Amino acid sequence: MNKDRILVTGGVGYIGSHTVVELQKAGYPVVIIDNLSNSNRDVLDGIERITGIRPDFVEADCTDMEALKALFAKYPDIRGIINFAASKAVGESVQKPILYYRNNLNTLMNLLDLMPTHGVKGIVFSSSCTVYGEPDVNPVTEQSPIKTATSPYGNTKQICEEIITDVIRSGAPIKSVILRYFNPVGAHPSAEIGELPNGVPQNLLPYLTQTAIGIRKELSVFGDDYNTPDGSCIRDYIDVVDLAKAHVIAVERMLTEKSESSIEIFNLGTGNGLSVLQLINAFESATGVKVPHKIVGRREGDIEKVWANPAHANNVLGWTADTPIEDTMRNAWAWQLKLRERGIM
Ligand code: NAD
Ligand code: WQD
Repeated sequence: MNKDRILVTGGVGYIGSHTVVELQKAGYPVVIIDNLSNSNRDVLDGIERITGIRPDFVEADCTDMEALKALFAKYPDIRGIINFAASKAVGESVQKPILYYRNNLNTLMNLLDLMPTHGVKGIVFSSSCTVYGEPDVNPVTEQSPIKTATSPYGNTKQICEEIITDVIRSGAPIKSVILRYFNPVGAHPSAEIGELPNGVPQNLLPYLTQTAIGIRKELSVFGDDYNTPDGSCIRDYIDVVDLAKAHVIAVERMLTEKSESSIEIFNLGTGNGLSVLQLINAFESATGVKVPHKIVGRREGDIEKVWANPAHANNVLGWTADTPIEDTMRNAWAWQLKLRERGIM
């Protein structure tokens, strides 16, 4: 049976591109909309090399209602949406809050507005563990309290979750699966696609691999005086391909009436917390490559420790993040080496 077409907003980006690969492998026809504000169209070549299929691509901005209408007119067979398109740099969002609210909220509202009239049944939304702030108890479940956001970026995720809830409560004939990602890391094992941060990376793993290859002199470990076993912060690092696979299951569930209610929320993490120093060790032992690093002061706004209880996703979606961290580290390293080979960095 032919599968329904899926619109992937932000599908040229980091998590979106890995998800397009898994969707195509599962037989879904895909159309991507991306304004390339934080990505490069060469990613489409990588997707094609992995899957043998070049996804349809529309270069446009999701905040542009007319562009979206034209897209739905061109692809009347779209039945599901995965909405990755958003601005995502926490620090930048503090400097440019309007940009973040405008981009992240308008993108979602435009899609929700157009879905019913174009026969689109459901939307998967990329949310974040950032909604839990500094949790009182770890691991966090979907019922853990939502804390006041500490950045405009984090606030957009909370507001977007509320917008989805209100729209569905109003009786809109659509479903939604909200996925709260923990810390996505790694790259496709083929090293054809991966993370391509703009400028100096703010996130740990890209900074680490850029240090390992010599682009950065040393990695700063932000604090070793936290209340954790080795004093550095703890996160739940989830392999990006595992994460991508959860989206395929979520889409399937949404479109085949399996979902128990119109809105479902899932934590996507491994359930294992790793400290910054443990992650550096995991990288070094998996690759044999040393990472020059030094301990510096705490980074303002950092959460001390957060990791997921992924039982709900494990039980209901039948999904687990099972890629060993060493494999994830090797894939991240292979991707960094590929960027050098291609002369990108
Ligand atoms: P990314 O920046 O690599 O991908 C986002 C893509 O969306 C980019 O290709 C960008 O060009 C595009 N885009 C942005 N605004 C757009 C617009 N208005 N119209 C069309 N395209 C637009 O980011 P990512 O890491 O792949 O994140 C994907 C989603 O997951 C985002 O919503 C992000 O907030 C969320 N998320 C990411 C993380 C993480 O650590 N990477 C964690 C939790 C949640
Ligand atoms: C991880 C750990 C740092 C860089 C951010 C967003 C969050 C979510 C994921 C989207 C922390 C430490 C980092 C470095 C370091 N994104 N670190 N040296 O802060 O968990 O979350 O990305 O929703 O919203 O806030 O991720 O990768 O920046 O940091 O020691 O050079 O690595 O202190 O403990 P974070 P991160």
